[in-house]
Amino acid sequence: MKAIDIRNKYLKFFESHGHKVIPSAPLIPENDPSVLFTTAGMQPLVPYLLGEKHPEGTRLTDYQKCVRTVDIDEVGDNRHLTYFEMLGNWSLGDYFKEESIKMSFDFLTKELGIPVEKLSVTVFAGDEDAPRDEESARIWKEAGMPEDHIYYFGKDDNWWIAGEEGPCGPDTEMFYDTGKEPCSKECNPSCGCGKYVEVWNNVFMEYYKTKDGVYSKLKQRNVDTGLGLERMNMLLQGKETPYDTEIFEPIMKKLSELAKNDDISSRRIVAEHLRSSMMIISDGGRPSNVDRGYVLRRLIRRMTRHLNKLQIDLNELPNLIDLNINILSEMYPELEKNRDTIKQVIVEEKDKFVKTLTHGEKEFEKVITRIKNENLQKIDGQVVFKLYDTYGFPPEVTSDLAHEQGLEIDMNGFEKLFKEHQEKSRMGSDQKFKGGLADQSPETICYHTATHLLNAALKIVIGKDVHQKGSNITPERMRFDFSCDHKLTDEEKKKAEDLVNEWIKQALPVTVEEMKKEDAISSGAECMFIEKYPDIVTVYSIGDVSKELCGGPHVKNTSELGIFKIKKEEASSAGVRRIKAVLE
Ligand code: ALA
Repeated sequence: MKAIDIRNKYLKFFESHGHKVIPSAPLIPENDPSVLFTTAGMQPLVPYLLGEKHPEGTRLTDYQKCVRTVDIDEVGDNRHLTYFEMLGNWSLGDYFKEESIKMSFDFLTKELGIPVEKLSVTVFAGDEDAPRDEESARIWKEAGMPEDHIYYFGKDDNWWIAGEEGPCGPDTEMFYDTGKEPCSKECNPSCGCGKYVEVWNNVFMEYYKTKDGVYSKLKQRNVDTGLGLERMNMLLQGKETPYDTEIFEPIMKKLSELAKNDDISSRRIVAEHLRSSMMIISDGGRPSNVDRGYVLRRLIRRMTRHLNKLQIDLNELPNLIDLNINILSEMYPELEKNRDTIKQVIVEEKDKFVKTLTHGEKEFEKVITRIKNENLQKIDGQVVFKLYDTYGFPPEVTSDLAHEQGLEIDMNGFEKLFKEHQEKSRMGSDQKFKGGLADQSPETICYHTATHLLNAALKIVIGKDVHQKGSNITPERMRFDFSCDHKLTDEEKKKAEDLVNEWIKQALPVTVEEMKKEDAISSGAECMFIEKYPDIVTVYSIGDVSKELCGGPHVKNTSELGIFKIKKEEASSAGVRRIKAVLE
């Protein structure tokens, strides 16, 4: 079976269960500037999930072209893709858990022929917002799922929402057991070791979450599902990666033939980014320096760099595009129609990038002259980073050229700056476009509020001129970067920590209001990148100790935070310090 056969089987199966097949929406969302690309099948259907009548009725199915760019830097490993296809079926206030789960079970076991022993499912364990989903567990069991293949997990695993606000609900996820050895006694579908691979997600969308974290019931109970096609295809073919299936295999093989310096990760990047770029261009995307256009630009440039790394003649690009269109046009006939445009856009962008690289070489020569004049042996990480960031000059290239001159490069210094840069850009895109992947766990929400308190405390302890320069939050800890010209003394750290804990103890309310951007600024609200905010902004206040422009979400009261502890204070970059802290 090939990917297209799985797709056709899927649509036919749901059609036979009363669903209307609707076309994939374009990758570039119509009338929705809030997201970069369509990231899930439900995205174009939001108005109907909220209650608007869909012209095709209450049971729909489709394949949806999706692009998710959060993990772009991970592409090259054995699983991350920026472009993927999601198969989906929807009930708009029609069937609910019973029918949805039974259809999924039948499709997996009867249509795809997956033995039940290879399947596991997870259901929502319940919390203060929604009850434990024993109903789904019961239905799975009745359908034939062995009881010890049914797991309960909390919101982190079994709750789905696109972004921060919108229709959402508990979900039940289906996993395929690859047959690998369990990673530990506790090995289970949520452990992430790779034994279990998630293949399908059915969301029972009966809630609406507002920006400030309040859940209410929707007018109707919906079902929203998503099955990852490339993944399912790989598993059914018993392959280790999607690159070993018919979708990528011919282009991977061709790249290997052409490469003078073969490297599997570079070949995957070229193959993946080429497919993604072609799909985006075919749906009307063009390279530019902002938003969507910038993502496309990055994809094409990264692909070009890796073609260089593989030492493949860049004049091969049109042939590679032709080959890829031949592979993919059965699935996406629009590629055939747009063959010339796709080639033209990619080749033009590649040419521009080659010019950039040429400028980089000139800059490199200047650097060499200076270094030789100063009698140095090593090229500074900062210079390597500038060559990379401003001139698009890959560090490997800088390193090769440096060796030719008998010089070394400070790769560690480069990597440090690169990581910082990566985090900053990830933060920026997370804030604006994360769409569907934002971590909304109660822990991260607490840390989010704690960053506001720390910001306010530092202003008191160090001075009004302290401003936030960045932050990074995981469910385990927070990191906060701020402008400051000195290393904090132990006393300063202690004072800041004490102030935050004092405010937590005072159980200050966290309130949110919407106002005009100018009014927010003149009222003294703190904000990090003023130009990034829309005209109407949300402002979060914590008692009268903090007021900041922010998209949220936050806790309702500081008493929810626990005990705040500064774990580390260190330099981040010139004039910027970094605090790592935890809530215990
Ligand atoms: N919307 C759900 C997802 O993307 C099905 O996983």
